[in-house]
Amino acid sequence: MPSIAVYPGSFDPVTNGHLDIIERSAKVFDHMVVAVLHNRNKVPLFSVEERVRMLKQSVSYLDNVEVDSFNGLLIDYVRQKKAHTIVRGLRAVSDFEYEMQAASINRKLDPSIETFFMMTNNQYSYLSSSIVKEVAKYEANVSSLVPEIVEKALHEKYSQNKK
Ligand code: PNS
Repeated sequence: MPSIAVYPGSFDPVTNGHLDIIERSAKVFDHMVVAVLHNRNKVPLFSVEERVRMLKQSVSYLDNVEVDSFNGLLIDYVRQKKAHTIVRGLRAVSDFEYEMQAASINRKLDPSIETFFMMTNNQYSYLSSSIVKEVAKYEANVSSLVPEIVEKALHEKYSQNKK
């Protein structure tokens, strides 16, 4: 049976830190599903369609990675994809509390699904979508933090918002 894992997130937008986790976990699992959440609690900068498109272009060189989006409970989506593992990246101790809570509730909802944590590469330990948006808003250079397509999209988004 092939090992299928889901890497869920907001990906608003995808960063090089996310790509590091995707690339490394694609070596561990036979098939990876990167799943963008339709999150009604947060007002995103990019629509789900834009986020999926940027992710698809950024991971197009990885044969065993699929990009999708989901609504509702993560555990239901993981079951629907016939996956048994959730992948999450850990950057720093500050991520730990939320991640432990999420992994615990997900295990309670379905004990057959495991959460697999991967430590982010040190060079990305400070990196988040929020920090990228914060600096891109002030036209700082984010070329070493995100894929080129995201850098362009951020530039377009913030120059549009200024008009
Ligand atoms: O990139 P993020 O915003 O840290 O990702 C959070 C995500 C999408 C993994 C989490 O919010 C999630 O799983 N949401 C779906 C609703 C759900 O299942 N909640 C219970 C587990 S936290």
